Amino acid sequence: MGFQLENVISIKDFTKKDIKFILKEAEKMEPIARSQKTSKILSGKILGMMFYEPSTRTRLSFEASMKRLGGSVIGFSEVAESSATKGETLADAARVVACYADAIVIRHNAEGAARYISDIIDIPVINAGDGAGQHPTQTLLDLYTMKRIFENIEGLKVALIGDLKYGRTVHSLAYALAMFNVDMVFVSPKELKMPRDIIHDLKEQRISVHETTKISDVIDDIDVLYVTRIQKERFPDPEEYSKIKGAYRIDAKMLNGRDVIVMHPLPRVDEISVNVDALPQCKYFQQAFYGVPVRMALLKALIK
Ligand code: CP
Repeated sequence: MGFQLENVISIKDFTKKDIKFILKEAEKMEPIARSQKTSKILSGKILGMMFYEPSTRTRLSFEASMKRLGGSVIGFSEVAESSATKGETLADAARVVACYADAIVIRHNAEGAARYISDIIDIPVINAGDGAGQHPTQTLLDLYTMKRIFENIEGLKVALIGDLKYGRTVHSLAYALAMFNVDMVFVSPKELKMPRDIIHDLKEQRISVHETTKISDVIDDIDVLYVTRIQKERFPDPEEYSKIKGAYRIDAKMLNGRDVIVMHPLPRVDEISVNVDALPQCKYFQQAFYGVPVRMALLKALIK
């Protein structure tokens, strides 16, 4: 049996088998994502995009994925383009977009927004990021990147670095890496540690959890540096952000001679120097490309 999920809301809803299924399907999608083959499997289908928060990669890679499979896309890319500005509720907007589309991709600043609309409409809903909650499709492409580079995800040593408190990509990724028995270490300023409920969940699964504030503690003992942006927009107090911004900066000197890859969900601000971009350790642009085959695989699995 293939993929059974009807919605993609949280990586916690996935089994390891579901994840492996999508990663395998994504490999088959790569020639289409690279324009080497064409496909019409979603011809006549429409994807509804409800983006209440800004996005470059997630929105455009979903659009590219749908179009590469012969489907089409409708929607809005910011609140100002929607009738939310006139006071329309999220529930009403979702019900209406569901009348026009075969699946919905939603990004919203409220944690739980995707789950909420999935409970009231009967077409597939894909969470493209809900506040500081989850970003499950990012996690799938992160895992795919690791698989394409290392072949096996199991047994890798991965450091998650930066804003682990508000970063939804690392919240989803930590749960997924736990399924693959990855050795994880969390590197953050003490103010931006991984939320305690996630640490609790990981410990309950008997995953060993290491936390530190210093990259130098881990850099010689890991395969993957997964770097994240400090999320200015999620800080309730701008002063707190100013104290912490620039806490970490990966540069070419730090990576010199080290057998480690650098991943980042992007966008970056200043946490990775541009002098890393030309190094063999830099994998974040390749990672961004992998968003297309992975999201193609998901769309194919969800839109029946
Ligand atoms: N990685 C990611 O979610 O990027 P966007 O915010 O540009 O979609």
